[in-house]
Amino acid sequence: MNILFYCPWHNQKEWLKKLKKRFKDFRIFTLDDKPDYKSIDYALIWNLDNKILKKIKNVKILFSLGAGVDHILKLKSYRKQPIIRIKDTFMAERMSNYVLSQILNYQLNLKYYFNQQLKKNWGDELEPVQNNKLQIGILGLGFLGLDVAKKLKSLGYKVVGFKNTKPKFNYSFPVFYKKNDLIFFLNHCDVLITILPATPKTYHYIDSNFLNQMKKKALLINAGRGSVVNERNLISHLNKNKYFNVSLDVFESEPLKKNSPFWQMKNTTVTPHIASLTFLDSAIDSIYKKILEHKKNGRIQSDVDLKKGY
Ligand code: OXD
Repeated sequence: MNILFYCPWHNQKEWLKKLKKRFKDFRIFTLDDKPDYKSIDYALIWNLDNKILKKIKNVKILFSLGAGVDHILKLKSYRKQPIIRIKDTFMAERMSNYVLSQILNYQLNLKYYFNQQLKKNWGDELEPVQNNKLQIGILGLGFLGLDVAKKLKSLGYKVVGFKNTKPKFNYSFPVFYKKNDLIFFLNHCDVLITILPATPKTYHYIDSNFLNQMKKKALLINAGRGSVVNERNLISHLNKNKYFNVSLDVFESEPLKKNSPFWQMKNTTVTPHIASLTFLDSAIDSIYKKILEHKKNGRIQSDVDLKKGY
């Protein structure tokens, strides 16, 4: 069985080393090996070029090396092969830690104290808001979003969700889903977290109209996909509302351009798409198990609902 591995990340060598150790009975190829593409059975990929996808005609499963699958679905040569994404409790822990860090940074005014430190100033005593007084809204209640919701709830925050469709099961916190409720939901959030995927429906979902429904003093955290936010609208909103804060881990174009205003804005925190980095050991383990399952049964259930687009 032949595997194609393509990953442009800084730790690609480590991936390859660990993959070779785990997949002893498989042959693992990178693009540098110039493999016979027609012989590839499984592809483990992130941001693969369409030209290569076209060549791996007989691939049986496409494994996304991260949680998102938009990098595969957008390729012209994608022919509805099953896609398996990394769904891992360590990644969920990383996402929850990232979100919590941004909430605490905001809630405890840590940016203010950091700037005071740079000026060797003792700074003012700013009263932090109690957890149970902060309403936290979540958009995107998938595997990662649910973990975030549960952890925040266990810390006493008031967690509320919003979905575009009627929830299929009961959540342990209120979840709105009616279009009319969106405005009510937005009016009441002190913190809004979005972990939405990139789909045609979520494209620029967060625009001026949306932002204008939010409190003037609030925090927006985007750890899903950059395309969900209309960046131009957001920049103008941040310029007009100095108590409106954002923590952005994802952007419409990555890496974020040097001339982006986000770098300089006082009410913005930028991180380079690190909210939920893939945890190598457990990711490789779960890919290995999925491939064995496929070898045994000859089929696998795709993680992607093509109608929903994620
Ligand atoms: C992603 C990831 O999909 O980091 O963005 O896994």
